[in-house]
Amino acid sequence: MTTSSAPGKVYLFGEHAVVYGEPAVPCAIERRARVTVDRRDDDLLRVHADDLSLDGFTVEYSGASEGTPDVAVSESLIDAAMGYVDAAVEQARAAVAERRDDGPDPETIGFDITIESEIPLGAGLGSSAAVTVAGIDAATRELGVELSPEEVADRAFRAEYDVQDGEASRADTFCSAMGGAVWVEGDECRTIETPDLPIVVGFDGGAGDTGALVAGVRQLREEYGFAADTVEAIGDIVREGEQALQSGDVAELGRLMNFNHGLLEALGVSSRSLDRMVWAARDAGAEGAKLTGAGGGGCVVALDETDETGTALRFTPGCEEAFRAELDRDGVRAEPATDGGQSEGDA
Ligand code: MEV
Repeated sequence: MTTSSAPGKVYLFGEHAVVYGEPAVPCAIERRARVTVDRRDDDLLRVHADDLSLDGFTVEYSGASEGTPDVAVSESLIDAAMGYVDAAVEQARAAVAERRDDGPDPETIGFDITIESEIPLGAGLGSSAAVTVAGIDAATRELGVELSPEEVADRAFRAEYDVQDGEASRADTFCSAMGGAVWVEGDECRTIETPDLPIVVGFDGGAGDTGALVAGVRQLREEYGFAADTVEAIGDIVREGEQALQSGDVAELGRLMNFNHGLLEALGVSSRSLDRMVWAARDAGAEGAKLTGAGGGGCVVALDETDETGTALRFTPGCEEAFRAELDRDGVRAEPATDGGQSEGDA
């Protein structure tokens, strides 16, 4: 039995624009997905997830990946989560097959997989990337192969790319595998030095449909030159943002985040609850605030040294939870085995 974990993330800058080759800076936070993989004697894949939750948002199901789980949230979210698990296992098997000429064909090896996550599904905090990254790491190590974090990131990107029909950048998966703040621009991915940041997250309890939101931006960009210019302007903000990050200028980072949110709003990926939380944070004195991830619902990220933003968010209609998030400098990592594995009766 092997367990790995990987962090979720917030986007300081650049979501959506990164899909078109502009840079983005996501930043890992100390909310993790843990995936435990236990090799089976047959070729079946069984997945068990007790808790893909923040408080107030809990998915409970137990079932074979090909079966219909007993769910407490939208089935499309569960289908999406299962798609990432299947794709992660496929990538892990391929990575092992590349390194082995003998032994059983990895395609014929089945697994019991248990997912425990502190990251809400589809809410802009990189739940799918964290599960995919931790899943690939755990499954390969369970078969005796250790991949570098860079290779885990690359394989996780390929898994996301397949599940999201080609509408995925390397940003979420690279950030989750490497930890810290990262720069992603097309295929160029690198970690960047960053001071600790006073990150506050507000969560509206909802989720956006990443595929539909990315498709909406693509359509706007094709239809209007000014929408394409807006995407490029987000790239300019990210370039400024990297300098502010390196000099630790939190006030400038906040201003740029506000600007970035305005442009995402113009591209149609914000929502009333996200805008309300963004304004609550700004009114409470945050240096800046923006939606994070695909948008449509889910989370906002704000910068505030004080507790004012967190308090204001907790009193904002539509905000289900607000929490301070520490930057997580660790990416994917092996975890000590727990009894979190699935028992025979679960499946
Ligand atoms: C989703 O977390 C971020 C998007 O930019 C899509 C992607 O980069 O794959 C909207």
